[in-house]
Amino acid sequence: MRILITGGSGQLGREWVSFLNRKEVEFISLPSADLDVTDHADTNRVLSNLRPDLIINCAAYTKVDQAEDEPEKAFQVNEKAVGNLAKYCAQKKIKILHFSTDYVFPGTKEDMEKFPEGYTEDHPTKPINVYGSSKLAGEKAIQDSGCNYLLIRVSWLCGKYGSNFVKTMLKLAEDRDTLKVVNDQFGCPTFAKNVVENCWQLIEGNEEGVFHLTSKGKITWYDFASEIFKQAGVDINLEPVDSSAFPTKAKRPAFSLLSTEKIANISGVSLIEWEEGLKSMLAELKV
Ligand SMILES: NC(=O)c1ccc[n+]([C@@H]2O[C@H](COP(=O)([O-])OP(=O)(O)OC[C@H]3O[C@@H](n4cnc5c(N)ncnc54)[C@H](OP(=O)(O)O)[C@@H]3O)[C@@H](O)[C@H]2O)c1
Repeated sequence: MRILITGGSGQLGREWVSFLNRKEVEFISLPSADLDVTDHADTNRVLSNLRPDLIINCAAYTKVDQAEDEPEKAFQVNEKAVGNLAKYCAQKKIKILHFSTDYVFPGTKEDMEKFPEGYTEDHPTKPINVYGSSKLAGEKAIQDSGCNYLLIRVSWLCGKYGSNFVKTMLKLAEDRDTLKVVNDQFGCPTFAKNVVENCWQLIEGNEEGVFHLTSKGKITWYDFASEIFKQAGVDINLEPVDSSAFPTKAKRPAFSLLSTEKIANISGVSLIEWEEGLKSMLAELKV
């Protein structure tokens, strides 16, 4: 099997490279500098040359607030480029593994009460910001293409590579005694290492369709920060605050929990407690 990773320089792309380097598979990872997926002609030329059997699409426009000011750019990457890759996969009858987000859901407080176990894969979508809308449009582009796909929705993604909440908290703690952290948004972290391991199981098991993949648990960002500093042995004064303390351009859902019941039943898939995922990530960072 020959695998092409797009967006290979991002958080998840680099995790895939690290994982596949330890496997007996042929793969090529292209960073955005080498392959701009919004250039459909160049992308199609690269695909024709490489003739992959599987595309792992880690290319994404992920700047949630900036997307409010440049929706065209967000949709170019998260919808149009995804549609182009999916069309190629449909024509060549190969699979695409693509990643999406909890932000495709409305994430209301009412939903938190009605669906305490989190959103299931077939729950009606209704994004509340441009980023979420562009990611949902990408999901539809894949589904409309008729290709064989694995569409994995993750939330609060963190890993050794790139930037994420864990690294931001540790960095901020370097020169602050007190930190305010939002305590009214609920969800669960997803660890990039666990994502690639479990997605590999789905690929090997020839699975198809939409899956939610996160760690186990339901926490706020404040809970997450508390555990990060506890595990890292950092002494800092943490203050829980409401989202209103940090006004952002893009609206954030109050409820980001994804139900992982479907994926948990797939043979070989192993979901971890979020504290365990954090521990393993901090060990990788040597914190
Ligand atoms: N991070 C999260 O908390 C989170 C949560 C839920 C879902 N997700 C989803 O998970 C997936 C992986 O996210 P991530 O955290 O790995 O994101 P990331 O670190 O921002 O990586 C995205 C990668 O896509 C590349 N890219 C952007 N535009 C491109 C283009 N036109 N052509 C080729 N590559 C392009 C970026 O390159 P440049 O850096 O050069 O722009 C970057 O390397 C995404 O689908 C994201 O929507 C992430």
